[in-house]
Amino acid sequence: MKILSIDNLKENMQLARSIYSAKGNVLLAEGTYLTDKYIKKLERFGVSTLYITDQRIGQVEVDELVKIQTRNEATKITKKLMTNISKGKALDSEKIVKVVDDIIKELIDNPNIIINLVEMRVMNDYHFSHNVGVCLLALVTGMALNYNDSKLKLLGTGAILHDIGKAKIPLEILNKKGKLTKFEYSDIQKHPQIGYDILKECADINWLSACVAWQHHERSDGSGYPLGIKGFQIQEFSRIVALADVYDAMSTDRIYRKRFLPHQVIEYIRDQGQLIFDPDLTAIFLQNIAPFPIGSTVVLENGERGVVIDVTKDFPTRPVVKVLYDRNDRLLAVPSEKDLKKELTSFVIKVIDDNEESHVANQGGITGKKHYKHKMIAL
Ligand SMILES: [Fe+2]
Repeated sequence: MKILSIDNLKENMQLARSIYSAKGNVLLAEGTYLTDKYIKKLERFGVSTLYITDQRIGQVEVDELVKIQTRNEATKITKKLMTNISKGKALDSEKIVKVVDDIIKELIDNPNIIINLVEMRVMNDYHFSHNVGVCLLALVTGMALNYNDSKLKLLGTGAILHDIGKAKIPLEILNKKGKLTKFEYSDIQKHPQIGYDILKECADINWLSACVAWQHHERSDGSGYPLGIKGFQIQEFSRIVALADVYDAMSTDRIYRKRFLPHQVIEYIRDQGQLIFDPDLTAIFLQNIAPFPIGSTVVLENGERGVVIDVTKDFPTRPVVKVLYDRNDRLLAVPSEKDLKKELTSFVIKVIDDNEESHVANQGGITGKKHYKHKMIAL
């Protein structure tokens, strides 16, 4: 199993993981052999990254943070809730609090898990799946901080509802492809205050959770909005959700740009951690994310190329790689496994989007720095 971008899909490739809509329906099931029609369907849904079966790599297990049904249920509830709010209905918090509870129970059962999965999302459902993604990232961080159950509930509820104010922002602005006008940008910037105003009126939502909606765009150096508050003036849950929000947004395709790869997002957050985020929380947050998730095609320092098949929480930058091509770009008759935790002189230098045809074209060997025809995933 490996990660592939839609640009490199070919007919007869087999889907290794199912793709779901925000309503939890299967758009394309695991095991499906792709046809031209399916590939066009995926393009239409805005799915740009997929897991594809690769016989040379074999079956690779990727642990889910939570069950796919739980994630789908959370996305479905979020979608319903935001649609209701946009129609002027009152917030029904019962279901959302229950699903956050379910997520926490599953995460507690799985404490050593690392965020290792590249989600195959439908772009049109971004605003709903994003809320769930942020909730998971925030809760994993809360667990790393040894939060007790009640703190996790407050954090998780705030995280899943952090963008609730966007329900009141017109979709044409939220999903605009081109550059936003000054007025549109200032409209979007109203969502934290709108969200806070909705949540603070809701008897079942704690003020600390409502505060997350209000403060998740504040930045430690005072450059954020709506209040421009700094450092510890920003409540801790909000500082965590700020990190989760940026990580999830950058890792996802948007109408106006392609997603960034996990190691690129990690790099950005690490750099910014000293400036706009809480440095201590940044370090804890990043410990839980695999920079080279399972299924990534990577190039090692000696030119060998393969696919990540395992990664552990204790050493996330040093995955196990199944090497498929030697340093001269020749396909190995028998793939070898390299555990970078043991082979300490070896390291990943590049993550690429694997393109089957280029292997054939390049079997003559290295002819310069850009001997691969693999396309780096566009930023
Ligand atoms: Fe937001």
